[in-house]
Amino acid sequence: MDNNFFLQYYSGLNGIVGNPAFEQWRDELPIKIAAALQPAQHGDIPGWWKILQQLPYYPVGKSVLSSKEIEFSSDAVPDMSEQAKLQQLLMQLGPWRKGPYSIHGVVIDSEWRSDLKWNRLQNHIASLENKLVLDVGCGNGYHCWRMAAMGARAVIGIDPTLLYLMQYFAVQHFARNNKVFVLPFPLEMLPANLRSFDTVLSMGVLYHQRSPLDHLLALRSCLQEGGELVLETLVIDDKKTGLLVPQDRYAQMKNVWFIPNADMLQIWLSRCGFKDIRLIDISKTTAEEQRATIWSGEVSLSDFLDPDNADKTIEGYPAPTRAILVARV
Ligand SMILES: C[S@@+](CC[C@H](N)C(=O)[O-])C[C@H]1O[C@@H](n2cnc3c(N)ncnc32)[C@H](O)[C@@H]1O
Repeated sequence: MDNNFFLQYYSGLNGIVGNPAFEQWRDELPIKIAAALQPAQHGDIPGWWKILQQLPYYPVGKSVLSSKEIEFSSDAVPDMSEQAKLQQLLMQLGPWRKGPYSIHGVVIDSEWRSDLKWNRLQNHIASLENKLVLDVGCGNGYHCWRMAAMGARAVIGIDPTLLYLMQYFAVQHFARNNKVFVLPFPLEMLPANLRSFDTVLSMGVLYHQRSPLDHLLALRSCLQEGGELVLETLVIDDKKTGLLVPQDRYAQMKNVWFIPNADMLQIWLSRCGFKDIRLIDISKTTAEEQRATIWSGEVSLSDFLDPDNADKTIEGYPAPTRAILVARV
């Protein structure tokens, strides 16, 4: 295993300036990243590395980060057989949950249409022009690219799931962009009180936390004074109890702990010191947004809902509905 192979993706981190706490963390990152990517951390690392090494080289050409499909292409258009080989390599890094991407003619039609979530929030968040952004639980980094397109000076995504990191490496192999970084860490591994970022996102992460208020406090401590949190999570539409704690699985997911209603979510944010809390969207998840494709596994949202009543999960809970809120510190 050659650490330099992975670290080449992070050479641009050195150029990101921030407050002293950020810069100290930034300077420690190469060692922490190398440790997180040791083969002992995940048995698939050597296999993933082999796949990444086989990715073809194309000159950097067109990058379109602001469209539904995040696109990288160049004048050297690969022929059908090269595209088939590229598709096969990228598929070996699946399942691709988040996307879509278009890479030198190969369209990665992921399980989630992540662009639809982005459409719901992009006009409601603070300007990202020249901002330093942290995307907590960024998956393979789809929204990080979209934020780079909105003028962020750097977007750092963190996600502990190494498969998604490999997908980011594959995309970055073709992008060679020095503003977008995905790091292999959970939020808990960030230093306390960084107070460095202008915007922090946590989307699709809160309901996986056993201590949701601790998660909100940790997000707050990453933000500098006046910074903005963008929070997206599952909610219920239940005025009476305000909170669902699933007995076991929720929509087949094992690790869903707390699903508040939107009022409860605002109370949580307020108790954690956030101000100017705004609910900007509530949307029921549709089969247009989450569905099985050749790039994902065989099952998806429609398999997690009651076959006789699409308003319920197969466990009998309200079907997935997600809220987006923004708030300031
Ligand atoms: C449902 S996905 C959401 C991906 C993306 N943010 C989106 O909205 O499309 C949740 C992600 O959070 C990551 N995650 C879970 N616990 C986390 C933690 N403690 N810190 C950072 N990321 C976490 C998972 O690995 C997963 O990729």
